[in-house]
Amino acid sequence: MRIVLIAAQSLDGFIAKPGQPGTAFTSPEDKAHFRTVMAHFDVGVFGGETYRVSREAIRAQTAGRHLRVAMTRSPERYATEAIPEVLEFTRAAPAALAHELRTRGFRRCALLGGSQVHSLFLAAGLVDEVWLTIEPLLFGGGTPLLAQPTDIRLELLAMEKLGANTLLVKYHVAR
Ligand SMILES: NC(=O)c1ccc[n+]([C@@H]2O[C@H](COP(=O)([O-])OP(=O)(O)OC[C@H]3O[C@@H](n4cnc5c(N)ncnc54)[C@H](OP(=O)(O)O)[C@@H]3O)[C@@H](O)[C@H]2O)c1
Repeated sequence: MRIVLIAAQSLDGFIAKPGQPGTAFTSPEDKAHFRTVMAHFDVGVFGGETYRVSREAIRAQTAGRHLRVAMTRSPERYATEAIPEVLEFTRAAPAALAHELRTRGFRRCALLGGSQVHSLFLAAGLVDEVWLTIEPLLFGGGTPLLAQPTDIRLELLAMEKLGANTLLVKYHVAR
């Protein structure tokens, strides 16, 4: 199963503004890009915090075609919100979760944040590609792309202008 980390960030590397969780800062072009690319994934994985911040939007999408999985140490807290095959909650570690999803037949997984989940999957060597939207913004702080120091080399696959000031860059994770 191919795993692609997909995120939007400020030019200085933050995926949420200081004190302002959520992705309201992203451009209309990135929002359109996100909708388009998600049609090509059959599962999306994100962290418990991302779920809590974007709960309404995520739950509103549950009629979509792909499975959504929230990683949480307390999946039992979300028992009434879980919908099998649509919105699931798991405490499985990244490698175990990837194995389970592969076994269930999923082939294209989007890793959808936030920084803790990005770092967990990168540390486990499970990320194949990183697709970053770079917005023309500087935050000087906030939630970084990664929660942990790391040392990973990437190879540029593609770059594209999504709009007048917004860039999309795609990288392959070198092994
Ligand atoms: N710009 C973007 O593209 C983008 C994308 C996504 C998110 N974001 C933003 O990023 C922020 C959230 O990022 P974040 O780093 O704070 O949180 P996060 O990665 O979304 O979620 C962290 C949560 O994941 C769960 N978790 C962590 N380690 C785990 C493990 N080993 N096993 C199972 N569950 C585990 C825990 O949930 P429990 O506390 O439930 O146990 C933890 O609180 C929000 O502001 C969100 O809006 C931005």
